[in-house]
Amino acid sequence: MIFTVAIDGPAAAGKGTISRAVAAHFGFAHLDTGLLYRAVGAKGGDPVAAAEGLTEDDLTRDDLRTLAAGQAASKVAVIPEVRAALVVFQRQFARRAGGAVLDGRDIGTVICPEAEVKLYVTASAEVRAHRRWLEVGGDEGQVLAEVIERDKRDAERATAPLRPAADALLLDTSEMTVTEAVDRAIKAVLAVR
Ligand code: C5P
Repeated sequence: MIFTVAIDGPAAAGKGTISRAVAAHFGFAHLDTGLLYRAVGAKGGDPVAAAEGLTEDDLTRDDLRTLAAGQAASKVAVIPEVRAALVVFQRQFARRAGGAVLDGRDIGTVICPEAEVKLYVTASAEVRAHRRWLEVGGDEGQVLAEVIERDKRDAERATAPLRPAADALLLDTSEMTVTEAVDRAIKAVLAVR
């Protein structure tokens, strides 16, 4: 069975939590595509060479979840050659047997426009910054500033900017519990499966 769930949205909107829960519920594989860009940013040196030579090992570094790694990721993610180098891996993952959930910024628009289910998960910048701050600590105002800066870079880039696919279901999680958001996502999959 080939079945792709594409989940896009800005930083800390709940994509990761929802994606993992949907994948576990249906027994699908899950790919956090942000990790690819984080790994390219973290490698340093020429980002295009880093993307072309990316291996599974690069994705298991434990410094990929930091705010700095997120910023570095969004800087290399504006480079069209970096994005192009990561397309085949993501498409193969999406169309593997047994079903797949991919979360990122351009899954429904560029990587898998043919995905059976597309969700665009969002929340207000303040709510997202607060959630991220609960994870990383530090100064909440600084976390908010970084969230806004990263959203702007992701939304304004020329190649594969962050935006909902025309046929994506919008899920604003600002006022939702995790359980509610996950339930909505599972229902969206069940509706077409
Ligand atoms: O989702 P995450 O916060 O890990 O993504 C880090 C950065 O990687 C994003 O801010 C974005 O610039 C980039 N990214 C992307 N396309 C994706 C996934 C992530 O451009 N599909």
